[in-house]
Amino acid sequence: MIKTQAIPKMVPLNTLLPHHPLKEPTKISLLDDHQPKQPLLKPYYKRENITLYQADALALLHKMPENSVDVIFADPPYFLSSGTFSCQNGKRVSVKKGNWDLSNGMKEDYTFHDKWIKACRKVLKPNGTIWISGTYHSIYLCGFALRMNAYHILNDIAWFKPNAAPNLSCRFFTASHETLLWARKEKKTPHTFNYKAMVAWEDNYQKKVSCNHCNKKDSHPFLHQEGKQMRSVWAINTPSKGEKTFGKHPTQKPLALLERIILASTNPGDLVLDPFTGSSTTGLAATLYGRKFIGIDNQKKYLDLSIKRFEQLQQQMGVPEKQS
Ligand SMILES: C[S@@+](CC[C@H](N)C(=O)[O-])C[C@H]1O[C@@H](n2cnc3c(N)ncnc32)[C@H](O)[C@@H]1O
Repeated sequence: MIKTQAIPKMVPLNTLLPHHPLKEPTKISLLDDHQPKQPLLKPYYKRENITLYQADALALLHKMPENSVDVIFADPPYFLSSGTFSCQNGKRVSVKKGNWDLSNGMKEDYTFHDKWIKACRKVLKPNGTIWISGTYHSIYLCGFALRMNAYHILNDIAWFKPNAAPNLSCRFFTASHETLLWARKEKKTPHTFNYKAMVAWEDNYQKKVSCNHCNKKDSHPFLHQEGKQMRSVWAINTPSKGEKTFGKHPTQKPLALLERIILASTNPGDLVLDPFTGSSTTGLAATLYGRKFIGIDNQKKYLDLSIKRFEQLQQQMGVPEKQS
């Protein structure tokens, strides 16, 4: 498993990568053909194949060229924030991720999802696919909006979090998964799926076991075995402390989750878009494997966090410092 924080600075990229058929070191190309001739808006950050915009996702999507993006990963607001409490690291914490996560009622929340999902369809290439992650607060609305906008659903992935926080109320089951919908733009146009790379996947969650007789400790891969078809339930821990070295985003996704998504559904050189980029976990995985990336967020503080993460990664990959 890649733990960027644990990696000494300036090591060659191939020492950062787990041994995996597709996980070859990638040279960062200076080609920049994903940019429209007229800039959309002044980027908040621009470096080789990474572009970040501080903007409202819908407004920027409307300005982007049609049929220009290979894959979209979207982790939209869940609209689950309220005045209630949950448990984090054994402590009682308020459930409010930010004003951006407050619900405006189901109808308005649905209208929001419908609009950005429609706008994403326009910018996707005909063979493009979209991933959407969420909990029950948002995922059914997004799934319905996908169907209403003529996408063709390929999978719903259950991302099981083996280290999910306990439930303090003890009145219902402990929430320990999120759902990822994967859909393609056109029902009949083939999409990218790196099937063999998924079968050969060896970077799996290891379940710890101890022998009942001698207490000897061991571990074995959980939910996927190298050489077998990858199924739609994935076990991946929530981000470790080390992934939050530069500060934390309240809904940051683990790099391991985005690595699997990028390697399953994109090819080197593809353009990946995240309209709700947050701390840009999607962009990190895209950069690591030689894909181009555009990220959008309306919060400056999350883009600043993203930039720190990108610069650390590029330093680790040996990309020269920007001159200006
Ligand atoms: C669920 S978080 C994404 C977290 C991200 N996947 C990560 O790994 O850090 C959603 C993000 O969407 C941003 N956001 C909310 N509404 C937005 C809008 N209308 N336009 C652009 N960004 C928005 C929030 O600031 C937040 O960072």
